[in-house]
Amino acid sequence: MKVSGAKNSALVVMAGALLCKSECRLRNIPGLVDVDKMCQIIEALGVKIQRNDDVLDFDMTGFNCHTPPFELVSKLRAAFFAIGPILARLGVAKVPLPGGCSIGARPVELHVRGLQAMGAHVEIAHGIVNAYVTGVNKRLQGAKIYLDYPSVGATETLMMAATLADGETILENAAKEPEVVDLANFCISIGAKITGAGTDRIVIVGVQELHATEYSIISDRVEAATFLVAGAITNSEITVFPAISSHLAAAVAKLEQIGARIAIDSPDRMRTIPTGILRGTDIETLPYPAFPTDMQAQFMALLAVSEGSSVITETVFENRLQHVAELKRMGANIKVKGNHAIVEGVLALSGATVTATDLRASAALVIAGLA
Ligand code: EPU
Repeated sequence: MKVSGAKNSALVVMAGALLCKSECRLRNIPGLVDVDKMCQIIEALGVKIQRNDDVLDFDMTGFNCHTPPFELVSKLRAAFFAIGPILARLGVAKVPLPGGCSIGARPVELHVRGLQAMGAHVEIAHGIVNAYVTGVNKRLQGAKIYLDYPSVGATETLMMAATLADGETILENAAKEPEVVDLANFCISIGAKITGAGTDRIVIVGVQELHATEYSIISDRVEAATFLVAGAITNSEITVFPAISSHLAAAVAKLEQIGARIAIDSPDRMRTIPTGILRGTDIETLPYPAFPTDMQAQFMALLAVSEGSSVITETVFENRLQHVAELKRMGANIKVKGNHAIVEGVLALSGATVTATDLRASAALVIAGLA
């Protein structure tokens, strides 16, 4: 199976493209509705975008609008992360609050507090976050920011904002997800000075201006791991490529505990080896490098047909167990207590009409359908 470019890298790197003054070319962009929506949002700011298969060409020379439209931002949470580059480039940004979604309330106070620490004035009224910088140059100021939680989006917003700030910004307790590192590498390719991405302490030294680049997005670890789970549940050999095996360590370790075997054939090629064994195990979702929340639903489908009991604990999002009810329609034996799902493996699932709630829940139901 060919693995696409990482959705969560692509969306935020597209927002990061707003930091460049001139042009920028992004490669390995996945073909997703969310990418189309992000293109529309960036175009609404005055940017020209040309799409050719998995390549996006941006021309930033007309970027002059600081107000992405409500109808578009409300449909795509990642669009809120553009507040960082818009504010850094234009000194003002009016971005609608992203609102909740099917997996949780998803507040943005960590983004807002970080921008305030960098000298931005932020007022939230009528559902709009109105942020602006005063002073002659309208530039944000470097700051030392401790994130109460290693939020992926807040780390990304603040890292982008800091690339064009006056002085040094230090993000403590930063998110370590590969998509944060990918964004940092993109920013470095346009001339930003960033060290420590991938650790919990990221240091950004602001520069005056960021230049053109051509950058390729990393491959999607969640898509790769989803295919590996599909291989395990169908007891078949599935090769996934390109896959960065180090990004999949937690998911592969769980697959092996469950009884699957995963071969790493080359640095970017992984394969499931049928073993006929599926046994229960416990899973707790946590920030990277621990087990990802974006793989929780797919593993629940697998554990639903694994021998014995498993406990799945979701700690990242407060409402990400909606697929339980749908898997139960297919004959799974699962009970929910708070943020725990107790799964008793059954011998087989049966086909049923089900409702897909969010992206990963949908993938889980497809996987269950395959079984
Ligand atoms: N949080 C706050 N306050 C904030 C920011 C976050 O309380 O200011 C909370 C959230 O409500 C949540 C937790 O912190 O409970 C984690 O949120 P985080 O900010 O880390 O997530 P995100 O940036 O909104 C990204 C991905 C998600 C992925 C999470 C966790 C993008 C566009 N989205 O979301 O991807 O689950 O990180 O790894 O990058 C998906 O792809 O299906 C998906 C939901």
